[in-house]
Amino acid sequence: MESRYYDAKNVFIDSIEIDDYIALDSSVISYKQLQHSIEKPLKMILVFGRPGTGKSILLNYLYENLKYQKDIHYFATPTTNEEEFFHKIFKVITKKDLPANTRVNFSTLVDYCRDMQGKREIVVLLDEAQMYSAEMMERIRLLSDSRSIKFIIALHKTDQEDLIAKEHFQSRIWEVIELRNGTLEDTQNYIHKKLLKKNLFEIANSIKSYHIGLIYKFTKGNYRETNKILFTIFEIYEYYDLHHKSKIDEHSFSKKIIEMAAIKLGFIHV
Ligand SMILES: Nc1ncnc2c1ncn2[C@@H]1O[C@H](COP(=O)(O)OP(=O)(O)OP(=O)(O)O)[C@@H](O)[C@H]1O
Ligand SMILES: [Mg+2]
Repeated sequence: MESRYYDAKNVFIDSIEIDDYIALDSSVISYKQLQHSIEKPLKMILVFGRPGTGKSILLNYLYENLKYQKDIHYFATPTTNEEEFFHKIFKVITKKDLPANTRVNFSTLVDYCRDMQGKREIVVLLDEAQMYSAEMMERIRLLSDSRSIKFIIALHKTDQEDLIAKEHFQSRIWEVIELRNGTLEDTQNYIHKKLLKKNLFEIANSIKSYHIGLIYKFTKGNYRETNKILFTIFEIYEYYDLHHKSKIDEHSFSKKIIEMAAIKLGFIHV
């Protein structure tokens, strides 16, 4: 037997599929900024923000929207070595694979890009860029100097990395778009819209602003944290539904279960 909470739980699995994208106020603002920046000449664009603020889903959404209009490419995770990265860039430019053991000569690649100037504009989206070395970032900058490849770089911010960001990204070539946690209203929309998208109307309606306020207190509007707590809430609901059905009320959402989830995830210490 399957609980009705099973589907609700799975709504909150982390996903960067664009079918799951929701036009939240915070994401719409960042998306517009990104769209505007992409049309400006000569810029490297940095999409910056704490883990779970929606950088990857935003890049994916941009990619999906522009893939038939622009020469645009998404690199999900950094390659383990430079050579592999240049092979990928080579493929983007020439649409051909280089034989595995061939070295890409970096200055030839730069020359090639310079020759394309004014003829082609390629957009490369680099996700998880905190994993690229400083040398790599410098080479990426040199490629972008050719003005034929524009890089949009998503970097997650930790306390330590704030410093790197300051030194490295302060120059004028960078346009910085900072993603932040959502507001209380974003959190409300996020939770409701995600449930409604899967036709879980009753459950969505049972979650009142009072509950959202409590959830927001724990997550501070971070989307990944919101996913975690809702997943855990519905996991607890599912358990009761299958084993102690009398302990839950299907019609009103439970503050106690929100708190149990918060304890389980360490938002509340007991
Ligand atoms: N606009 C949105 N629409 C739908 N889901 C979203 C949106 N923004 C964020 N999310 C959800 O929040 C989760 C975290 O977003 P995402 O993975 O894009 O964060 P991130 O900033 O790339 O984090 P990291 O720095 O750890 O890579 C996603 O898996 C997705 O479920
Ligand atoms: Mg990400």
